[in-house]
Amino acid sequence: MSATNSQRVLSGMRPTGQLHLGHLHGVLNNWLKLQYEHRCFFFVADWHALTTQYDDTSMIAKSVWEMLIDWLAVGINPNEATLFIQSRVLEHAELHLLLSMSTPLSWLERVPTYKDQQLKLKEKDLTTYGFLGYPLLQSADILIYKAGLVPVGEDQIAHIEITRELARRFNFLYGREPDFEEKACEAARKMGKKNANLYSDLRKRYQEQGDDEALSTAQALIGSQQNISLGDKKRLLGYLEGDSKTILLEPQALLTPMSKMPGLDGQKMSKSYQNTISLREPPAQVEQKIRTMPTDPARVRLTDAGDPDKCPVWQFHQIYSGTDVKDWVQQGCRNATIGCIACKQHIVEAVQAELAPIQERAKHYSEDQGALRAVLSDGCEKARDVARETMEEVRQAMGIAYR
Ligand code: TRP
Ligand code: SF4
Repeated sequence: MSATNSQRVLSGMRPTGQLHLGHLHGVLNNWLKLQYEHRCFFFVADWHALTTQYDDTSMIAKSVWEMLIDWLAVGINPNEATLFIQSRVLEHAELHLLLSMSTPLSWLERVPTYKDQQLKLKEKDLTTYGFLGYPLLQSADILIYKAGLVPVGEDQIAHIEITRELARRFNFLYGREPDFEEKACEAARKMGKKNANLYSDLRKRYQEQGDDEALSTAQALIGSQQNISLGDKKRLLGYLEGDSKTILLEPQALLTPMSKMPGLDGQKMSKSYQNTISLREPPAQVEQKIRTMPTDPARVRLTDAGDPDKCPVWQFHQIYSGTDVKDWVQQGCRNATIGCIACKQHIVEAVQAELAPIQERAKHYSEDQGALRAVLSDGCEKARDVARETMEEVRQAMGIAYR
């Protein structure tokens, strides 16, 4: 690892099988960059797949390995990043369980994905304990590595938020020095009864409900006190945030830049729209898929002028073509001097050229399962070392380290 930045990065993906160009131009390119900048942990969230696929697990095992092959094929480097499988680090389950003891049901019920996904996947019964706990398991994934940064898409922001709240609550419940509390209460009394009560209420609102407004009000209250020492002020501020001892680290979401990769029909590239080019798509099929892409409907004949802005092929040019080709497309399309087949040919070749080295590496790992298993064994081992260390601290803090 050539990491220079001290914050650990962690991210996971549910095993959905083979990945496509949308994943490459979104998540994976981001991971490729991050692996050289931070200590990175990337894992397959196979237990998370079970939360929605508990009734048919037949695809999971295959998807786990296919996805890992794709990660390696695009250049995720196991010497730079730690790659592992969630279910092979049992400590995730232990932390999930321990956190579950103190997690209010309401915190989980109000995570937007809980209701959203139940509505979206109506055919499935998702009124399960496991599905409600999905964000809690994700929190355990993150907290167990003390990750500072979690690269995720927009849809996952709420999960990072609850992770932060859970870390704060854990530190509040189990991370206090024994006499710290006493000293803080003594300092609070010096503000007078009314202010002391207000302080205590605000602190509770912040600690238990994550109310940021309560935090800033309390900070202002402490700041405005004239009769207490600087030491007491510091104590009160520390006690307010419950930060006398940080056992679990509050992570930040690192929003993945939106992928500009369109699907073959111009909508977002997504498996559910059936508009994808998979990273393992054979060259002939790449050609066939691009050739049959819709174009500007106004261009029926070669002599009809077109408008690239109304054509999904143009969006591909914006990703794959240099200025020369782009100018050629703009001119030729608007003046009806180029044909759509010629226009598309550039994309066919660019995508094939992009995929060729990826497919070669994928072939290597597909044919050498031993090498693949070895990379994963090594990654799981490294992940487990970190996870074990955190769990030791967690058990100590909770007073259940009697072994
Ligand atoms: N919920 C994430 C998704 O669907 C996958 C995931 C599980 C994850 N655990 C994680 C992502 C921990 C980041 C960190 O995309
Ligand atoms: Fe689209 Fe290119 Fe045809 Fe214009 S020439 S309509 S940009 S495929």
